[in-house]
Amino acid sequence: MPQIDLAGAGVQPATAVAKPKVVARDVNVHYGEKHALHNVSIDIPEQAVTAFIGPSGCGKSTFLRCINRMNDTIASCRVTGRIELDGEDIYDRSLDVVQLRARVGMVFQKPNPFPKSIYENVAYGPRIHGLAQSKAELDEIVERSLKRASLFEEVKDRLDAPGTGLSGGQQQRLCIARAIAVSPEVILMDEPCSALDPIATARIEELIDELRENYTIVIVTHSMQQAARVSQRTAFFHLGKLVEQGPTEHIFTTPEDKRTQDYITGRFG
Ligand SMILES: Nc1ncnc2c1ncn2[C@@H]1O[C@H](COP(=O)(O)OP(=O)(O)OP(=O)(O)O)[C@@H](O)[C@H]1O
Ligand SMILES: [Mg+2]
Repeated sequence: MPQIDLAGAGVQPATAVAKPKVVARDVNVHYGEKHALHNVSIDIPEQAVTAFIGPSGCGKSTFLRCINRMNDTIASCRVTGRIELDGEDIYDRSLDVVQLRARVGMVFQKPNPFPKSIYENVAYGPRIHGLAQSKAELDEIVERSLKRASLFEEVKDRLDAPGTGLSGGQQQRLCIARAIAVSPEVILMDEPCSALDPIATARIEELIDELRENYTIVIVTHSMQQAARVSQRTAFFHLGKLVEQGPTEHIFTTPEDKRTQDYITGRFG
């Protein structure tokens, strides 16, 4: 990993982590005139879950979208600073964004299966990325992805049925299977459980815990309990700034910043 120059005003030192997968330095985001993110620096470790928490509008989704360049799709959005994936600048002009988004997958708040069969929802990515040489190979990827998303047993007899016909929790697991199918290295989840009931939420949380063995996971959540349950590291955002970050236990028990303390004790947000 190349040495990154942290000199310069206003740069927060990111607390170092073992084996960072994603390294962000001094990231600023503007939507037109609006300065939505200020000098965000963070190291996101591999094989761990990092939670982004903070009040509505503080920039959690904005920063999450920087990590796979989803903000490129918003015309007014301008991103500056540096973000590296395995030491490689993801904003480098020679970088293939389609390839980046296969390496850094995303799961959204509202389950959004394609209006296609369960099978096709999962097969779509591997097919466009040429990951299977034959139908048998594709079948195997679909089955493996559905198993990893702990959905296979529930849908194995109806793979040709529409994905949109599943329950909300099943649809979200289908979206996770779809994200996994292209063998990403990082999975970004933006409030993946906010549309789910407690039972479906518990299943997704268990799944996230299993997935962290193989992936780097970043989850945005409004639930402090969820952040405490599923993450090893937590970053607290407030008014476009990353106020505090560190081991989850530390953030929830002995936060250093008053704003973090107020948020986790429910005083605002
Ligand atoms: N597409 C956009 N165009 C203009 N402004 C935007 C856009 N998306 C977000 N913003 C602004 O950027 C700031 C950060 O928004 P963001 O969606 O990242 O917050 P958030 O922390 O994810 O909030 P929430 O918890 O409500 O999802 C807000 O002030 C928001 O209004
Ligand atoms: Mg958001």
